[in-house]
Amino acid sequence: MLLGAPGAGKGTQADLLNRRLHACHLSTGEVFRAAAQLREPSPAIQDALAHMNRGELVPDAIACNIVSERADCLKCAGGFILDGFPRTLGQAVQLQNLMQDQELSLHAVINYTLPAETIIARLGGRRICEKCKAVYHMTDRPPKVEGRCGRCDGKLVHREDDQPEAIQVRLEAYNHSTKPVIDYYDKLKLIVEVDATGTAEDVFARTVLNLGALRHVEFAREMWVLGQE
Ligand code: AP5
Ligand code: MG
Repeated sequence: MLLGAPGAGKGTQADLLNRRLHACHLSTGEVFRAAAQLREPSPAIQDALAHMNRGELVPDAIACNIVSERADCLKCAGGFILDGFPRTLGQAVQLQNLMQDQELSLHAVINYTLPAETIIARLGGRRICEKCKAVYHMTDRPPKVEGRCGRCDGKLVHREDDQPEAIQVRLEAYNHSTKPVIDYYDKLKLIVEVDATGTAEDVFARTVLNLGALRHVEFAREMWVLGQE
């Protein structure tokens, strides 16, 4: 599970982790953004999107339904990476119940930390591919060809919630609702703190190192071996 403030780099790290693990990457934010493309989104999804565009959290019931409907992702042979879920204590409890039903457990909860000014710079410069959803940054991770995705040549766009007012609301929601989730997993001794400063590759190396330094040695070794293949 990847936790961290908006813009901390969860999506970028999920992508790098996935190149090794081939796990199922479940990002609730991505599911909502994909739903925005539907011709006739359900009233529940329209409600969710209105919250999202303002930078607010989507109601727990909708976020939890999205994950329950995708419970098969949690049984992927390569494991799963949860990105952006849970974000409230209520969601954490519902996830616990879902995982108990499926007889699954969490390896680790990685908490990416980053100073506020870096968060704002990362969000302000972010561009995403409208086709394959690859993530770029105008100065820190620029595409080879301006405005085009290096993977699929899709158009790079600004996320609606990356406007300054929405960024502020997202940071407040994070401080108010998501920080308690970190304490919840800390009590379960699952938290692995990772400093998210430096390049994405630095952060990835630190992630593998910190997983290994704690009691996740087997998992980190497995990732290291996969990286050599
Ligand atoms: P979501 O899509 O999850 O957004 P978020 O948590 O705000 O996080 P971001 O995706 O903005 O940032 P990230 O940490 O993934 O960073 P990234 O890798 O892109 O959720 C969006 C909305 O959906 C929420 O606000 C809410 O409304 C709703 N929602 C979703 N899940 C919900 C839930 N469970 N409950 C309720 N509501 C929910 O990186 C950011 C930028 O920095 C990029 O440009 C990247 O290229 C760059 N970058 C990354 N790493 C580095 C690095 N090391 N050095 C330099 N640049 C870097
Ligand atoms: Mg993301």
